[in-house]
Amino acid sequence: MPIHNGNISALKFFTAQNASTYDWLVYTATFGQDDEWKKQIVRSVKGSQMILDLGCGTGILSTTLRNANSLAEVVGLDLKFEYLKVASTKRGDIPLLNATVEELPFIDEVFDSVVTSYVPKYTQVERMIEECLRVLKNNGTLVIHDFTYPNNKLMQMTWKSYFALLKIISNIVRSWKDVFMELDHVIEESRWLNDCMSVLDSKDMKSIKCTHHTLGTAAIIVAHKK
Ligand SMILES: C[S@@+](CC[C@H](N)C(=O)[O-])C[C@H]1O[C@@H](n2cnc3c(N)ncnc32)[C@H](O)[C@@H]1O
Repeated sequence: MPIHNGNISALKFFTAQNASTYDWLVYTATFGQDDEWKKQIVRSVKGSQMILDLGCGTGILSTTLRNANSLAEVVGLDLKFEYLKVASTKRGDIPLLNATVEELPFIDEVFDSVVTSYVPKYTQVERMIEECLRVLKNNGTLVIHDFTYPNNKLMQMTWKSYFALLKIISNIVRSWKDVFMELDHVIEESRWLNDCMSVLDSKDMKSIKCTHHTLGTAAIIVAHKK
């Protein structure tokens, strides 16, 4: 399978040196919006029994899903072992797998829902969606969330100023330097939203809905398989 720029960024960004501070960083750097976006994801998969969290990282979403529904089986999967190690310290009842979203190690049609947060910009979207649809049961729900570059000109200026500030801070918070220096380019150049929508449009889905959040800085797609 060919490797693309997003895969390279993910390998560079998420390291043994920053895994332990990831939860703090994502909450602080999004001004708490991460909680709100994740609540929306959890609401979208209400009632699901078998849920797969792709690119689960340190397990923030996996544990939120499990805490919201004690009867649900949640499985987390991530490329980076160091991040899974942090996830494993949170709840012992969430199986965690070291694998890539482009090649899921599951048989067909086992999950009621597949969710993913901040991951698509790092992946080969078409391959990821095909794998998600393969492992989803009929009527299953796919939820895809990530950052977006805002359309509004004033918001673009604010967004760029914020990343300029992060670049200055990166001289102090060394373990996050690569992320603070490069994440703005990754987000600005990523076509994840258009790519996901066009791949999903090309499949025979029951429904596809995209919502924009926090002044256009994030988007969530909720799609249902037929
Ligand atoms: C920004 S973190 C998000 C973690 C978690 N989803 C959250 O919401 O906090 C991105 C995660 O995606 C993982 N990742 C990136 N590309 C991946 C791929 N192709 N397959 C599996 N995991 C991937 C990274 O290792 C990292 O842990």
